[in-house]
Amino acid sequence: MADDLGTRTSEFIGRLTGALGPKGVSTDPAEIEPHISDWRGRWKGSTPVLVKPATTEEVSKAMTLCAAYGFAVNPQGGNSGMVNGSVPQGEVLISLKRMNKVREVDTLNDAMTLEAGVILTRAQEIADENGKLFPLSLGAQGVAMIGGLISTNAGGVGVLRYGMMRDLVLGIEAVLPDGRIWNGLRALRKDNTGYDLKHLFIGAEGTLGIVTAATLKLFAKPAVKETAWAVVDSPAKAVELLQIAKTATGGAVTGFEIVPKLALELVFKHIPDTRDPLPSTAAWRVLIELSLPREEGARGLMEALLSDAIEKGVVADATICESEAQKAMVWKIRESIAVAERAHGKALKHDVSVPVSRVAEFMERGAELARAVAPGVDIIAFGHVGDGNIHFNVVPPAGVDQDAFVGKEGLKVSEAIHDLIASLNGSISAEHGIGRLKRDELAWRKSPVEMDMMRAVKKALDPDGRMNPGRVL
Ligand code: FAD
Ligand code: MLT
Ligand code: ZN
Repeated sequence: MADDLGTRTSEFIGRLTGALGPKGVSTDPAEIEPHISDWRGRWKGSTPVLVKPATTEEVSKAMTLCAAYGFAVNPQGGNSGMVNGSVPQGEVLISLKRMNKVREVDTLNDAMTLEAGVILTRAQEIADENGKLFPLSLGAQGVAMIGGLISTNAGGVGVLRYGMMRDLVLGIEAVLPDGRIWNGLRALRKDNTGYDLKHLFIGAEGTLGIVTAATLKLFAKPAVKETAWAVVDSPAKAVELLQIAKTATGGAVTGFEIVPKLALELVFKHIPDTRDPLPSTAAWRVLIELSLPREEGARGLMEALLSDAIEKGVVADATICESEAQKAMVWKIRESIAVAERAHGKALKHDVSVPVSRVAEFMERGAELARAVAPGVDIIAFGHVGDGNIHFNVVPPAGVDQDAFVGKEGLKVSEAIHDLIASLNGSISAEHGIGRLKRDELAWRKSPVEMDMMRAVKKALDPDGRMNPGRVL
């Protein structure tokens, strides 16, 4: 094997091309370009080669060659990640986009086995075509892929009822850093045969190996969804409304999202074909979705819980969606916030969670803190209030250099927000992960014993530290 890097790289690429064929390897800058920056355009990277395996065996061959030549690896799915994990920093970039086959759908076992490159909307369609529901849903669902969703343990808007990606995975197949294939595609609800290794890969952000396929849970499709848009005066009222909705419906609440007025205004400004379902000067809106097994009585349930909430002074006003088009409109408003915010400019993003009982306190104190540390900022705090997960984004004051603010200047704001989160027993990453963005902070926020255990797992599976170096640990 050649010694100098240039010769070693071209020998490596030659052997890769021999093993995977020309379709599986690219050094074309135009093809590589969209893979080496993130969706917000905040981070830019580089790679010597883009590898596009079409099968697990090809992933294994590529990983074996990376090990033999000592190259680090960056796996990539839809590249919609929010924490600078999927942008390569000189590593060999392995895209899973050609691994998009359906391996099996077993409706009697409520399970389907998909390859890592299947896009989330396609996974939802496959479930639907088989009369079932795959409930994971999030704004990037048109690009995010099963392998990336597993590797970040994605959350989204159905967690309240169906859980995070971790709760939706029965088994996985992965390729280890040395090229060995682990077939853990079990489709069992019960399996107590030692350590449950799939959970190591779920949320590992590609630091332990490459997820190549997964067996996922399917659910019964609800007969009807009732969707409402409610006006509330404060996050505290939103949390009260959640309790009312849960109590009234016995677990039928599948979506419960909070939207501040500023986010609404940005959506109407930047996203075509959106309009306010219920104009009001109040500061907050809540999107409530109930999923029910029977049409009969469904509308009455939503009406009753909203009347109760209005009577108790929890909700100021509300409207129930009358058509599929109206439902699609309120979800479009909610799911477009990230895109509208991007169009507005750069922002310091905090993907935090606290116990639901402390969400209101966090949002109030967080806004005060941010304004005290950086006077003139705007706060866009929105999202999964039903899970205690708020996207607490801080927009720099007008006239301030946005890059400097989201770079160094804003660090004090982020530290203050995360200190508050720590004091409320919360998490500094509820659903987006750690990536490179929060790696340093993780090391001092977690206890030494927890960091030691994580490093021991990493060392055991990736002793040379070649999988996604610089991410998470
Ligand atoms: P990528 O971005 O390609 O990769 C993410 C990480 O996983 C990287 O570290 C990468 O190296 C690793 N990885 C990718 N594929 C594999 C694999 N096969 N094996 C091993 N490692 C791998 N996230 C939420 O949780 N909830 C939301 O509501 C949500 N909304 C979003 C809305 C928008 C508009 C956008 C742009 C993003 C949103 N996200 C959300 C973030 C993002 O969509 C998720 O993190 C998603 O899971 C990333 O999937 P991906 O396929 O794009 O992965
Ligand atoms: C969302 O819930 O819309 C996302 O996680 C995106 C974001 O945090 O901006
Ligand atoms: Zn989110």
